[in-house]
Amino acid sequence: MIQRLELPAPAKVNLGLEILRRRDDGFHDLNTVFATLDFGDTIALSSRSDHAITCQVVGADLPADDANLAVRAAKRLRELVGESAGLGMTIEKRIPMGAGLGGGSSDAAAVLMGASRIWGVEPPLPLVEQLALELGSDVPFFLRGGVARAGGRGEQLESLALRLPWTVLLINPGIHIATPAAFAAVGRQGERPASDLATALAAGIEDPSILRGSLVNDFEAAVFERHPELEALKRDLYEAGAIFALMSGSGATIFGLFEAHEAAERARARFAGHWSVVTRFRAYSSASIDSIIERSE
Ligand code: C5P
Repeated sequence: MIQRLELPAPAKVNLGLEILRRRDDGFHDLNTVFATLDFGDTIALSSRSDHAITCQVVGADLPADDANLAVRAAKRLRELVGESAGLGMTIEKRIPMGAGLGGGSSDAAAVLMGASRIWGVEPPLPLVEQLALELGSDVPFFLRGGVARAGGRGEQLESLALRLPWTVLLINPGIHIATPAAFAAVGRQGERPASDLATALAAGIEDPSILRGSLVNDFEAAVFERHPELEALKRDLYEAGAIFALMSGSGATIFGLFEAHEAAERARARFAGHWSVVTRFRAYSSASIDSIIERSE
């Protein structure tokens, strides 16, 4: 049995995010492309001889109780598989919270994947995916990582075999945005048509002007109205040489794509005073769901 396991919990950005309609259940149907980054949290899991599920968070003021999605993920998975064993978790937090980078969701997905191995259980993949969606709309994506087009709440996923060549500069001015409030501010009435984001992204790899013409984030107008400094950051990213810039998720992180790593590093120097990271897209999550698929077949 595995005693200790360390997993990456990568951050994501949304390369286009369209809010198609408000549903009767209060959620919204989305059309988006998620892409994991080579930057994120690290989760260490260890077996315990008692029945306790414990969580230690390093690097952020994040609760270690049920308010932490990773703790809820471990407890729900334990119920699902009928385990009674304990689990020790240490989360090294690097992804800012309430930032549109999926940090909490990624941590939860990493726990779902890793805890199964610690406990030596093989839950069927559809049940793990269902549990992931119950934990949050973005969690199912993080079970696979890479680049994926998503519909529904975010759980109807289609992986895209695209190698995204750009360097990514993330800028976060420390504004926390609550997702439900952002949806309310958008106030989607009726229905909006869905674009073919996968085709636009593939074409944008050859010609970045296609990205600028095709990928939007429907949260931007409402969020920028309340936080004009975010719109200014987006403009600054273009001025600093980004070939494309967009807000991620419901904000407040703005990211810029650069063709050269040095250009992104140079641009980063202009945003001193803000939290920033230069990174790349991560082709796949190293804690990929493939191993769970293998075990469930
Ligand atoms: O699923 P998650 O917990 O991330 O969602 C937080 C809130 O964001 C939901 O309660 C809902 O108000 C809103 N949401 C939505 N449509 C989605 C995802 C989230 O309306 N597709």
